[in-house]
Amino acid sequence: MDSYYFHRGRRLRRTDVLRSMVRETEIRPQNLIQPYFVVETDDASYEKPISSMPGQSQLSIQKCVERVGRYVDKGLSSILLFGIPAEKDPVGSGAYAADGIVQKAIVAIKKAYPDLLVVTDVCLCEYTSHGHCGLLDDAGVVQNDPTLELLSKTAVSHVQAGADIVAPSDMMDGRVGAIRSALDKSGFTDTPIMSYAVKYASTFYGPFREAAESAPQFGDRKSYQMDPANAREAIREAEADLAEGADFLMVKPAMPYLDVVRRLADSYPTPLAAYQVSGEYSMIMAAVQNGWLDEKGAIMESLLAIKRAGADIIITYFAEAFFDGWKK
Ligand code: PBG
Repeated sequence: MDSYYFHRGRRLRRTDVLRSMVRETEIRPQNLIQPYFVVETDDASYEKPISSMPGQSQLSIQKCVERVGRYVDKGLSSILLFGIPAEKDPVGSGAYAADGIVQKAIVAIKKAYPDLLVVTDVCLCEYTSHGHCGLLDDAGVVQNDPTLELLSKTAVSHVQAGADIVAPSDMMDGRVGAIRSALDKSGFTDTPIMSYAVKYASTFYGPFREAAESAPQFGDRKSYQMDPANAREAIREAEADLAEGADFLMVKPAMPYLDVVRRLADSYPTPLAAYQVSGEYSMIMAAVQNGWLDEKGAIMESLLAIKRAGADIIITYFAEAFFDGWKK
């Protein structure tokens, strides 16, 4: 070769050891949070597979404790809980009942695994008969300010039951501040809030609504969740939540919004979570089941992409698969 230079990128890709030495991003087991759906039922052995999310199930408290235990043994260190109540009503009473499904599940899970980090989703939609995330007025419009009190009660009741972190997902304005002050007044000044700060009105929540039985009975969530077309607005939402006292920020969904994950990661020193939602899981699993994608490869690449974009923490239904031995 004569004198001209070109970059030999292949030099550092020659062997596994070399590639591994220069790898920039890694999934740490401690960064993953696995969601669970707990059902209020007298049948302790209740376990109902969610058809649109192969591998995921609705579980009784007992089944949930068992399943969590299997993964704690493999290294799972944190979970996100959703509850499916036996009864729903217009004001979502089950969300903030001291003996509600999530509250009871927290007690049982913490008793079995005191060191497991239990995060709870704070929202009303699984508990309201109309399926919206807040109270409705006579015209069917979701009422922001009256909802704040119920969300605060929900968060406090979760923490009283033993939750380590509360994660409000309702997208009402001012809820982080309302929840912070309610927690502080109840003496829970040390309980962090993981805010679903940037939550888009996404089609990718479809399978979750089967899993959590929380589809809105009319209309949609576009008057409170964000427009998928907006990225600058994410900055506005994140700043509002930080000012109100959020300890973590979250972007949701993850893969279709990696640009937003990167913007937030670059803009704020706060730990950043990304939620790889139900539809993201279902898409990959459907392709895997058809033989169109390699399971381990697709899962690991998707998690890596979210991490590389700047998320510190990933909420993912693939956490179990990861702990089933796909760490390498
Ligand atoms: C509750 C809530 C939803 C999700 C998390 N919390 C559904 C929604 O907003 O409609 C979606 C999670 C997923 O799709 O995996 N508000």
